[in-house]
Amino acid sequence: MSLIEVRHLRKEYPNVTPLKDVNATVDEGEVISIIGPSGTGKSTFIRCLNRLETPTSGQILVDGIDMCDPDTDLPAMRQKMGMVFQNYALFSHKLVVENLMMAPMDLLGLSKQEAYDQALDLLETVGLRDKALAWPHELSGGQRQRVAIARGLAMRPKILLFDEPTSALDPQMVSEVLSVITSLAERGLTMLVVTHEMRFARDASSRVFYMDRGELWEAGPPKQIFDHPQRQETHDFIFRVRAWEWEIHTLTPDIHAMEASLATYCQRQFMSGRATHTCLLLVEETVSNQLLGLARKRGITDPNIHMTLVAGEGGIDMELLLDYRGRLVAEGEPTANERDDLSLSIIKGLCDHWELVEPGLVRLYVRC
Ligand SMILES: Nc1ncnc2c1ncn2[C@@H]1O[C@H](COP(=O)(O)OP(=O)(O)OP(=O)(O)O)[C@@H](O)[C@H]1O
Ligand SMILES: [Mg+2]
Repeated sequence: MSLIEVRHLRKEYPNVTPLKDVNATVDEGEVISIIGPSGTGKSTFIRCLNRLETPTSGQILVDGIDMCDPDTDLPAMRQKMGMVFQNYALFSHKLVVENLMMAPMDLLGLSKQEAYDQALDLLETVGLRDKALAWPHELSGGQRQRVAIARGLAMRPKILLFDEPTSALDPQMVSEVLSVITSLAERGLTMLVVTHEMRFARDASSRVFYMDRGELWEAGPPKQIFDHPQRQETHDFIFRVRAWEWEIHTLTPDIHAMEASLATYCQRQFMSGRATHTCLLLVEETVSNQLLGLARKRGITDPNIHMTLVAGEGGIDMELLLDYRGRLVAEGEPTANERDDLSLSIIKGLCDHWELVEPGLVRLYVRC
């Protein structure tokens, strides 16, 4: 029997139906990443699982017990299901260790000593034993989120639900929290994680749920979802999150905004600092110096440059597609000299090689 079984789950609000007809099963020990565009029912789904939301219809069985049955002891069931939210809600007037002791003493009946020993063990698990006597405000965002995870574990749940546990964190803190979650998976805890971190979904989940417009479109192992999606909707979404896109329609584009957007994308792909730097240089070099130069030379005010950068597996081997087939090429194919200009980037060692797919469409390969 599955640990969680969801049948025909539907949730309606007066103006929107975030869950239409969701069916899913989760086995014990599985780590499920739930991915999908914004506003498509992911949070509603996991909030229904522990009945923070009341479903309109359908059935949710957890350990065989119907969460929608009015006779079900919801507080007891919620103890089996910890939840970690986007914003680590720690009690600011309590020490870190006290934050982990209160609920187990109140609800599990642990003695003060037992709760204290358990709290220290859990802090060890999340790598923060030395912060036991710190105040929450003395911790970084990533550390606070790790304490929130430890606090979820303190109730000894069978299932942990996460709703975007890293989205409020600075990029450098994301990986420390994700590695704690990954280590919990190794201990056999069943977890459902709503996340926008595709690398985590790919590397740390046993299965991935792709949700869109209130439906679970596809559920499968990461390899299926990321490399061989069975449905067009999944394919389109995966491409969108793996690709960085930028368009330039002026001779004086906001290069800083472009670089900031690209840097965020590179961090999301978990690229190293050096690889990120290479990508930034490459894009700036080809855009500012090559293509905009070409446009200026020809008196074109709208160069119509469309860039797509696609990261390979694990953020390595980037492919930058530079498309300027519109105005720039309409004025004539780049001359041999201009093409040589483009190859400057290779001379500088920024990319491995490049090819002119067709006039105005250049593909550059970067090994990160
Ligand atoms: N309490 C509520 N009352 C009315 N509408 C709601 C409520 N909660 C969520 N919704 C709506 O339901 C839809 C799904 O919301 P939900 O938060 O589940 O999306 P999500 O997939 O988690 O999005 P995101 O990735 O942005 O967090 C949205 O249109 C949202 O506005
Ligand atoms: Mg959400």
